[in-house]
Amino acid sequence: MANVYITRMIPQEIIDSLRASHTVEVNPEDRALTREELLRQVRGRDAVITLLTDTIDGEALDAAGPQCRIFANYAVGFNNFDVAAATQRGVIMTNTPGVLDEATATHAWSLLLAAARRIPESERYLRAGLWRGWAPMDFLGQDVDHMTLGIAGLGRIGSQFARKAAAFDMKVIYTDVKPVPEFERQYGATFVDKATLLGEADFLSLHLALTPETRHYIGAAELAAMKPTAVLINAGRGPLVDEQALVAALRNKVIWSAGLDVFEDEPRLAAGLAELDNVVIVPHIASATFRTRLAMGKIAVDNVLSVLRGERPLTCVNPGVLK
Ligand SMILES: NC(=O)c1ccc[n+]([C@@H]2O[C@H](COP(=O)([O-])OP(=O)(O)OC[C@H]3O[C@@H](n4cnc5c(N)ncnc54)[C@H](O)[C@@H]3O)[C@@H](O)[C@H]2O)c1
Repeated sequence: MANVYITRMIPQEIIDSLRASHTVEVNPEDRALTREELLRQVRGRDAVITLLTDTIDGEALDAAGPQCRIFANYAVGFNNFDVAAATQRGVIMTNTPGVLDEATATHAWSLLLAAARRIPESERYLRAGLWRGWAPMDFLGQDVDHMTLGIAGLGRIGSQFARKAAAFDMKVIYTDVKPVPEFERQYGATFVDKATLLGEADFLSLHLALTPETRHYIGAAELAAMKPTAVLINAGRGPLVDEQALVAALRNKVIWSAGLDVFEDEPRLAAGLAELDNVVIVPHIASATFRTRLAMGKIAVDNVLSVLRGERPLTCVNPGVLK
């Protein structure tokens, strides 16, 4: 029986499936571990299931100790992992790709539609008792149908997001490290460079992995290059956007509005962001559906069980360590 630690409560049936064959301890608090707690709790474990809020670097790997075989992230993004440090120590790191694509892409669409049609802003107005009846000029928004949709990062989630644009008969343009010809043939999307994406998109949605190269992918200069009627959507990672620059751009109507699931310094918001009416903000819930969270847990547990049996995990982010 191996000793497995889970840094925060995940669906109970997932935990039970691990308990059938291993000793499992779960952080009992309804909050992320502090750094000190994390370093203390990983000590002596054979496997650890982590969240995107847990930074697993050389220090955390050393705190776990040389017997620890795997850190399994309960997320597809793994910017909280120092992959090189794990590879150097022979520790396997895994994520949960594929099972959250639809939930995340659909959520990005919810943000897009809510921002375009001013749903939260008009709901606040209604709830505040300010409505005096139908008015020709109240809460005018942006059309979505037939407009140009820009996508940065046509990976698993970005391509799911793009597919759904057909429902609105949109022109789809995208950028990535290279074109995806098969996708272009199937869905009529067009590969463009970043400058064209910024200049032509009526809606721009970010689905890039967060890396040193994509940090602040959207800053003041990029916002200035967008249309004044454009809507920016971020359901990727907060640091893809310079949040202070976005606050200034929204305040000064450099772009029209934004829809954000993620923030640069979660759970804090940049000063002034929450006061703006032309931004829809929700607390990092893109994958938060019952079915998706179960599926994510199942992959994390399957990865842990495989590694503890001495087998290859399903979704390793540092496959070099398996050779
Ligand atoms: N908000 C949420 O709750 C939530 C949920 C799931 C995923 N995510 C985020 O979405 C991201 C994407 O997930 P995915 O499964 O689609 O990953 P993916 O690896 O399939 O897609 C990422 C894409 O970004 C592209 N890319 C990377 N660097 C680039 C660069 N410098 N320029 C242009 N393109 C670049 C890659 O080539 C790839 O196509 C994750 O890394 C995660 O951070 C957020």
